[in-house]
Amino acid sequence: MGKKKLGVLVSGGGTNLQAIIDGCESGILKDVAEVKVVISNKSDAYALERAKKHNIEPLFIDRKSFADRASFCDKIVEELKKRGIDIICLAGFLLKLEPNLVRAFPKRIINIHPALLPKFGGKGMYGHYVHEAVIKNGEKESGATVHYVDEEYDHGPTIIQQKVPVMKGDTPEMLAKRVLEVEHKIYPEAILKVISSKL
Ligand code: GRF
Repeated sequence: MGKKKLGVLVSGGGTNLQAIIDGCESGILKDVAEVKVVISNKSDAYALERAKKHNIEPLFIDRKSFADRASFCDKIVEELKKRGIDIICLAGFLLKLEPNLVRAFPKRIINIHPALLPKFGGKGMYGHYVHEAVIKNGEKESGATVHYVDEEYDHGPTIIQQKVPVMKGDTPEMLAKRVLEVEHKIYPEAILKVISSKL
């Protein structure tokens, strides 16, 4: 069996992308998967630089060049299909996927979210907003969730979820850092699980 081809969609710094790349190069995804393309809706996303450093194709697709989000998503589908991508990993991709994209890759798109879904997910729940809400709500634990993507925000079936404690006196930044460490561990694990389970 050849390596599965991953396409990673990003909007920002890409530390999760880095964890996936490292997993493919020398970790649990070695000989199992490879990142073929990194697609970003932000031309200056540092994640694109990370791709270049690892000789992975970086691809900027400008949302503003398309009349609506559906046409933008059509373009993403076209680019992913052209490269024979098997699994699409959202890693800090901040635009909602339209149904045309979700339906083009059934059970092949996964996302990571920095909380214990179904809690603290949905529209507006990203980045520091998530951790602020967790602390404000007095939660004793938070964590990270990798899940299949469906047509609702942060909604599809969970693949892996891992908890971290919320400590007394935590700031959103402190909690984010603790959660991110877990994200970097479980994202490659979840990809391996998806590949072993059904492709
Ligand atoms: C992560 O916290 C992830 O859970 C969320 O967006 C953030 C991306 O961070 N979906 P990075 O770009 O991978 O560093």
